Amino acid sequence: MKISFAEFEPPRAGAVVVGVWEKGALTGPARQLDEASAGALTRALAASPRFRGKRNELVPIVGPANLGVTRIVLAGLGAPEAVDARSLQDLGGTLVAHLNGVGETAAIFAIDVGEATGLPAGTPAAHLAFGAALRAYRFDKYRTTERPERKPTLAALTVAGPAAAARRAFKDLAATAEAIAFTRDLVSEPANVIYPESLAEQAAGLSSLGLDVEILDDTQMAALGMNAILGVAQGSVRPPRLVVMRWNGGNEGAAPLAFIGKGVTFDTGGISIKPAAGMGEMKWDMAGAGLVIGLMRLLAARAATVNAVGVVGLVENMPSGSAMRPGDIVTSMSGQTIEVLNTDAEGRLVLADALWYCQDRFKPALMIDLATLTGAIIVALGHDHAGLFANDDALAERLVAAGKAVGERLWRLPLDDSYNRAIDSDAADVKNIAGDRAAGSIIGAQFVQRFVNKVPWAHLDIAGVAWSKKDAPTVPKGATAFGVRLLDRFVRDYYEKS
Ligand code: BES
Ligand code: MN
Ligand code: ZN
Repeated sequence: MKISFAEFEPPRAGAVVVGVWEKGALTGPARQLDEASAGALTRALAASPRFRGKRNELVPIVGPANLGVTRIVLAGLGAPEAVDARSLQDLGGTLVAHLNGVGETAAIFAIDVGEATGLPAGTPAAHLAFGAALRAYRFDKYRTTERPERKPTLAALTVAGPAAAARRAFKDLAATAEAIAFTRDLVSEPANVIYPESLAEQAAGLSSLGLDVEILDDTQMAALGMNAILGVAQGSVRPPRLVVMRWNGGNEGAAPLAFIGKGVTFDTGGISIKPAAGMGEMKWDMAGAGLVIGLMRLLAARAATVNAVGVVGLVENMPSGSAMRPGDIVTSMSGQTIEVLNTDAEGRLVLADALWYCQDRFKPALMIDLATLTGAIIVALGHDHAGLFANDDALAERLVAAGKAVGERLWRLPLDDSYNRAIDSDAADVKNIAGDRAAGSIIGAQFVQRFVNKVPWAHLDIAGVAWSKKDAPTVPKGATAFGVRLLDRFVRDYYEKS
């Protein structure tokens, strides 16, 4: 779908969307079209008693007289003071889904929210376009026989507004939408296409944006003593990789912000094998890594004025004659020994070495890891919040605030020394599971914390939010890229020189 911006002109073809305030007051373009169509909009509203002009409510008028357009869609905006960037993004996304559903090929959004919102000129149009771009995403490269009537149709979208200002405001948002689409692609790809080496290659491809990308192979990882990651990898014919991405847009020598991702390109569970039902979902067990790669791409694309480092641990967790056995003990890069009592609790092993390596080498200002770590986080929080764990209250508060601002919400859960006893091992320094199912996500986080020194650190358990089974206004079902918008906002709001 191609997006462009233009000053409003009465349209002569395609679909046109106009805004209606709560309680039915027409915006400027709506009034103009109402006059030109001899009152078609007023009549449609009179015939739609359930339409209240609330957010995302739509009334379509098909084939209005005198205008040449195929349809007019009246779009509820809600109350003027409640219109903000996010409500406009949601409306843009909702409209794209609607127009694709009815088979329109070209549309104009003439949703004139005027001055009421307090947003700078051009930004409402840019946010409508951003929401539209996010919802238009589709992972369909492997669908060769899809019936044409099932395919999206909307090829050209024009957003009316002060075009030059809108284009300026859209620049970073377009980069964000591209980074999100890139992330969704990585996460959606099956595990025969995205495996440690090929995912590392995807990251390496970003060096053209000015990112400094290093790929450590299994030999280098062994030399560094990363036996926790290597233990997970040893059952697979696919060798592991550790990828380091650096963006230096900040002050020279300033300690970087560090983002660490779990990149299990497929998680069978290993010898502690998972049940067959639903196992295909485990192709997205690399979502944490995908997000970190997507975020680094975005920071580079928009030339963020910050120093950042992304570290992703890439492995495939397979059962085989060479796989780790339950009871095996590995020595992690930190020197701590880990008794692996369940080979399906592999993400924490990946994070243990990736976090240790990151803090040891880069002395970051803070570390944030992202991981589809536990099924238990879905039991606790469902799909509307990711789990947040942190050893630093200020960092946790910033992450929660950034999440609220972009609509990717976090809910903080506790870390506490009292949980540590459950993972003390009789045979090694720590074991990778507790004896029972109690507080599974906290136990996972508590394990990870053993590999974090005195640096502000947060852990996001994204198992419940990385993939969605239903459409949302700006997130079509499938890979969500939850975290890219959040962390970009976090960096922007708190760490960039403005
Ligand atoms: N990748 C899974 C967690 C997961 C579950 C992600 C569902 C997305 C959806 C993780 O590696 C795992 O298997 N965790 C185990 C931990 C347990 C063995 C302590 C789990 O949650 O069952
Ligand atoms: Mn697992
Ligand atoms: Zn996993």
